[in-house]
Amino acid sequence: MAARVKALVAGNWKMNGVRASKKEVTALARKLAGKTKPACDVLICPPATLVTTLKEVAKGRKIAIGGQDCHAKQSGAHTGDISAEMLKDAGAAYVIVGHSERRADHGETDKIVRAKAEAAYRAGLVAIICVGETEDERDAGQTLKVIRTQLKGSLPDGATAKTTVVAYEPVWAIGTGRTPTSDDVAKVHAAIRKALEKRFGAEGTKMRILYGGSVKPSNASELMAVPNVNGALVGGASLKADDFWGIISAYA
Ligand code: 13P
Repeated sequence: MAARVKALVAGNWKMNGVRASKKEVTALARKLAGKTKPACDVLICPPATLVTTLKEVAKGRKIAIGGQDCHAKQSGAHTGDISAEMLKDAGAAYVIVGHSERRADHGETDKIVRAKAEAAYRAGLVAIICVGETEDERDAGQTLKVIRTQLKGSLPDGATAKTTVVAYEPVWAIGTGRTPTSDDVAKVHAAIRKALEKRFGAEGTKMRILYGGSVKPSNASELMAVPNVNGALVGGASLKADDFWGIISAYA
């Protein structure tokens, strides 16, 4: 039986957003300060260029800021990379690691993702570790096998419910408008919960498991009601305050 955990609705802005986008965060903060107080934590992961700016906008509001990736090392000769410590210094509280776009575009393996999650812990950031099957893997009936392998390889041994969030994002559902059925989401999330409990004991019962992939205001309530879904990782629909609020409102 899974423990009751506070949900997290996280926005992944990907490579979108400039300084003017802070108006969306201001608008969201205003909604969060209104009468409807959703029973979830709210996080925005903008491009690294905006972490400090958005942290300033979010100051004193119920919005946390996070990074989208980090290097495993603390510093050094790694042109173009950003360390977990730098994100922390810029105002981040979380960092996404192992997003499928990083796995695909930058050849990130489970081993690399695990090292990045360890870097997040070292810096005092919560790691949001992403897993998810491709369409071919799903068609071949490999979904659960793929997810279990990714979990095993990508999660550090010391993962706890405080330091780690798992995000299940079926690759074929990202940015496509397609989502798995609630039953399919329930099956995968139950399997993730089981794997987490087996490996991490009581911590595994409390670890948040987010669903991601084409979450929008119109499907959020149904997806967020699925057992073992403890929130969402939202791409496109997190860019506009109104849409993101529509998803957060699933917890109102
Ligand atoms: P979309 O919500 O745009 O499908 O993206 C999901 C995602 O990849 C979040 O990390």
